[in-house]
Amino acid sequence: MRTIGVLTSGGDAPGMNAAIRAVVRAGIYHNLRIMGIERGYNGLINGEIKNMDLSSVADIIHRGGTILKTARCEEFKTEEGRKKALNVLKVFGIEGLVVIGGDGSFTGAQKLSHAGIRTIGIPGTIDNDLGYTDYTIGFDTAINTVLESISKIRDTSASHGRANIIEVMGRHCGDIALYAGLAGGAESIILPEEGFETNKVCEKLIKGKMRGKLHSIIMLAEGIGNAFELGKEIEEKTGIETKVTVLGHIQRGGNPTAFDRVLASKMGARAVELLLNNKSGRAIGMNSNKIIDIDIDEALAKKKRFDKEMYQLAKQLSI
Ligand code: F6P
Repeated sequence: MRTIGVLTSGGDAPGMNAAIRAVVRAGIYHNLRIMGIERGYNGLINGEIKNMDLSSVADIIHRGGTILKTARCEEFKTEEGRKKALNVLKVFGIEGLVVIGGDGSFTGAQKLSHAGIRTIGIPGTIDNDLGYTDYTIGFDTAINTVLESISKIRDTSASHGRANIIEVMGRHCGDIALYAGLAGGAESIILPEEGFETNKVCEKLIKGKMRGKLHSIIMLAEGIGNAFELGKEIEEKTGIETKVTVLGHIQRGGNPTAFDRVLASKMGARAVELLLNNKSGRAIGMNSNKIIDIDIDEALAKKKRFDKEMYQLAKQLSI
């Protein structure tokens, strides 16, 4: 193995740059040539590829986003698109590929691996929605960003005696809402994994008011419902003024936390090590604080476990 490529794909996540840096630096350390592929699978199909040297990844470990840019690519889902990509890999002499992204990106990586390209997946998504790993790169930074917003909204919530719904990202996964909600002392946490009854949320709000509570934070994961409709319903049922904040893409940016940088550095180095050992079709993850790698098919098939105990704890502590 002499030349490897690296790309970021899907939604960006803080820490992707730290992972790119680790792949490039570990690769060069082991005398490999590293090619950076821009705009995910789009750039792979179109040959947007450049050589990466040591200084190409200088001063990026602390930056959010991805210097390689990213995209969601429809063409790569077609056989024809993948044929083009395989041809480009051949032309550039790329024998191994590191794909940093979420489940959609892993599905693409898995297809390339089956087509004979040695491919390794690094989980980079703020959603933390991959079942085989405890954490994905970007999740820790995202929950800290959300936490900062919760604290700010809590100030104004208390000043006005309002209820505030904070809608967060995560697609079908409630981890961002759950972790940030527990850390931020939210009164209610509404997740796709659990479902909810508006009446129960209202009852809790009223009980809180009656015991003199000034603020009320309701965390809503985007995968469960519309924050504005919920806000209207709560206001009608309780008479408590209810404001809505949809945090949106603010959750995808910002300097990665130390946790994400360390995770990304370890995973990037592991990806290079696996390629040097001629491994392919592996997904890197973290289990009980240890970096692991498993078969990508197995990784994709593994259902995400919902942390019911954490959810119960958050409920218990917000009575
Ligand atoms: O997968 C990351 C994510 O931020 C999800 O949480 C969210 O649903 C989606 O991407 C938003 O995608 P886009 O940036 O394309 O609007």
